[in-house]
Amino acid sequence: MPETLEAPPAPDVDPAFRKDVLDGLAAPIPAIPARWFYDRRGSELFDDITRLDDYYPTRIETGILTERAAEIADAVGKGGALIEFGAGSATKTPLVIDAIKPEHYVPIDISGDYLRDAAKALMADHPGLAVDPVEADFTKPFDLPHEIDGLHRVGFFPGSTIGNFVPASATDMLRHFRAMLGDGAHLIIGMDRVKPIERLKRAYDDSEGVTAAFNKNLLKRINRELAGTIPEDAFDHEARWNEMMGRIEMHLVANRDVDFTVEGRPFSFAKGASIHTENSHKYGKRAARALLAAGGWTPIAEWTDADDDFALILAEAQPPRTAP
Ligand code: AVJ
Repeated sequence: MPETLEAPPAPDVDPAFRKDVLDGLAAPIPAIPARWFYDRRGSELFDDITRLDDYYPTRIETGILTERAAEIADAVGKGGALIEFGAGSATKTPLVIDAIKPEHYVPIDISGDYLRDAAKALMADHPGLAVDPVEADFTKPFDLPHEIDGLHRVGFFPGSTIGNFVPASATDMLRHFRAMLGDGAHLIIGMDRVKPIERLKRAYDDSEGVTAAFNKNLLKRINRELAGTIPEDAFDHEARWNEMMGRIEMHLVANRDVDFTVEGRPFSFAKGASIHTENSHKYGKRAARALLAAGGWTPIAEWTDADDDFALILAEAQPPRTAP
C-alpha cells in the first residue's frame, strides 16, 4: 500500500488507550482493560444492558437502595460530602443524595463529557447541592477538591465496579480511597455475590445479544480511533466462569485465523485465540468483607436483597489500632 494511503493516528486519541491496546494485543495473554468499553456508544450499550431481564445487578442494587436508603443514611449520618467513584447513575445517585442530604457531591470520572452531563442533570434536581466534579482516573491517587475540607466524607462505589479489578488492584484502590477520604470516612460499596454459574453466564451473554454488541464495540473503537483493520466478524463474544478466581470473564475469541494491523502494527490471532476484555469478580459474604478489610476498611453493616444476590456494604475508615 502506498504510504500516502495510511491513515495518520487521530490526534485526539487518548494516549493511554493507544498504549493499553498496543501492549495488550501483543501480550502473551492478550487483554485490554475493561475501562475502554465506555466510549459514547459503549456507555449507551451498557445502559441498555442494565435494563435487560438477564442482567440482574443494576435492578437488584437499585431495589436495595430504594428500600434501605433511609437506614443507610442513619448509619453514615446526614450532611457532609458524598464522593462517587464513577460519574453517577441517574437512578442510584439521587436515592443516596435524597437520603443523606450531603452539602457537597463530588462525582469522579475519567470521561469529562459524561461527568458534566451527569453533574448538570443532578444540579437541576437538587438546587441547594454544591456539585464539584473531578475529571480523573479514580484507579490512581488524586486530590479531592478543597471545597470539602473538614467535611465528613462518604464514598459511594456502586454497581459492583470493584469486581472489574483483580483482587491485588482492588486492594490497592481501596487503600488509596481510604488514604484520600481519611480517618472516620465511610464507604458504601456494591458487590455482586457468587451464584449459580448458569445465571451468571446469562447475565454476561444475554439472549438479546446486547452484551455481545457491548464487547464487540471495543473492536469498532480500536478500528476507528487507532486506524485498526480488525475484521469484526472474525471475533465472537464469549462469557466464561473462572472457578478458581470466582469471576466471569469476557473474551473476544477468533473464529478463524486472522491477521490485522492497529496503527500499522501487525497482529495475528489463530482460530480459538482470545482477547480478554473484562473480569467481573463475584464475592461471597466472607470474601467481600475480607477484601474490604485488606483495603483498610472495616465493614460495619450490610444490606442485601431477599435472595442475597447482591450486597451493599457499609465500611468505615477506623483509625489504626495496635496489633494483633
Ligand atoms: C460495570 C461492573 C457494572 O461487571 O457487571 C456488564 C459491566 N460487563 N455486562 C459488570 C458489564 C458486561 C459491569 N459493571
